[in-house]
Amino acid sequence: MTSVLLTGIGELSTNDPRRAHEAGADPADPLARLHDAALVVEDGRVAWTGRAVEAPAADVAHDLGGRAVLPGFVDSHSHLVHAGDRAEEFEARMAGRPYAAGGIRTTVAATRAATDEQLLARATALVAEMLRQGTTTVEVKSGYGLTVRDEARILAVARQLTDETTFLGAHVVPTGPDGRPGDPAAYVALVTGAMLEACAPHARWVDAFCEEGAFDADQARAVLEAGARAGLRGRLHANQLTAGPGVRLACELGLVAVDHCTHLADADVDALASSGTVATLLPAVEFSTRQPFPDARRLLDAGVRVALASDCNPGSGYSSSLPFCVALAVRETGMTAAEAVHAATAGGAAALDRDDVGRLAPGARADLVVLDAPSVVHLAYRPGVPLVHAVWRGGRPVAG
Ligand code: NIG
Ligand code: FE
Repeated sequence: MTSVLLTGIGELSTNDPRRAHEAGADPADPLARLHDAALVVEDGRVAWTGRAVEAPAADVAHDLGGRAVLPGFVDSHSHLVHAGDRAEEFEARMAGRPYAAGGIRTTVAATRAATDEQLLARATALVAEMLRQGTTTVEVKSGYGLTVRDEARILAVARQLTDETTFLGAHVVPTGPDGRPGDPAAYVALVTGAMLEACAPHARWVDAFCEEGAFDADQARAVLEAGARAGLRGRLHANQLTAGPGVRLACELGLVAVDHCTHLADADVDALASSGTVATLLPAVEFSTRQPFPDARRLLDAGVRVALASDCNPGSGYSSSLPFCVALAVRETGMTAAEAVHAATAGGAAALDRDDVGRLAPGARADLVVLDAPSVVHLAYRPGVPLVHAVWRGGRPVAG
């Protein structure tokens, strides 16, 4: 197998403190960055990282001319399998209408009416859009079907695009055939019964939307516990619109991640800090719903593990771009650029309980982004500028 040396790397974000500190990185840098660095790829994996002057020989060499290199982004939260859009709803919000969970039903109707081929075509295009912006690992949820058949086919589509699939039958209670509000207890029984049985073979994770207008803590607990019995690991949408009980539930159940975390009481921050649960922030949602942004600084200062993800969905935030989320997180949530990039790479990997992605360390998958910039800081400093020069996945250039 050919080995490839990438050299002339002006700044290499490794997320690998042990190796980087041996090579002279600042111990306080969240990204464990090396300067004037090089990296060797072999068999789709990172084989070596370090200072360019110490690089071993390889079969092929590329000089990156001082560009910055970082791990491929790990987007741990998206809803890519859907049909239709809600641009009108967005426009109404910008004119002052509030966001409400009920808008999900608009996308449910469009998704049920779409064929599997249509759903796959849209989701494939979104994955390609993400890849061009540096996302090399993506989690994809169901949640716009809300019948046994539709949730299972959404997950079968998602499974064709990623291993990180999540069963989100408990997204919202669907309306009944007569157009009247559905019965929450009967729907939770369906989600934890026949729907889970049909969906579990296609999913790695189970999720629920714990929020006013969606599911309360007891209902979310029932869904997560049933998912766990079916072999699915748990994650939760919580504290997006109100300081409800979801974050504490997620910590109590030892879930891998709890997502949104916009409205937090001190007890929520304490629970996160003393659990291993990752707090995933989705600032493109606050952008698109014109809501106050979450406070990443408060979480980081309390010692909470933070991830950044897109939440790409047609309702609350339709951006596929982690560079955009990084820029927003820096401007609006109190993170430094290094913290935000760390959260969108290593943080996303932690939120998916993965150690093979999100870092450029020997043995990790060679998923990386080359920037047309000397530093990751430019992702926030030059927002909206297409800075991605090339993207490698599994040791091969795939975009750029
Ligand atoms: O993560 N919060 C719940 N679900 C999505 C929104 C879905 C929608 O509005 O269509 C979210 O923001
Ligand atoms: Fe979401």
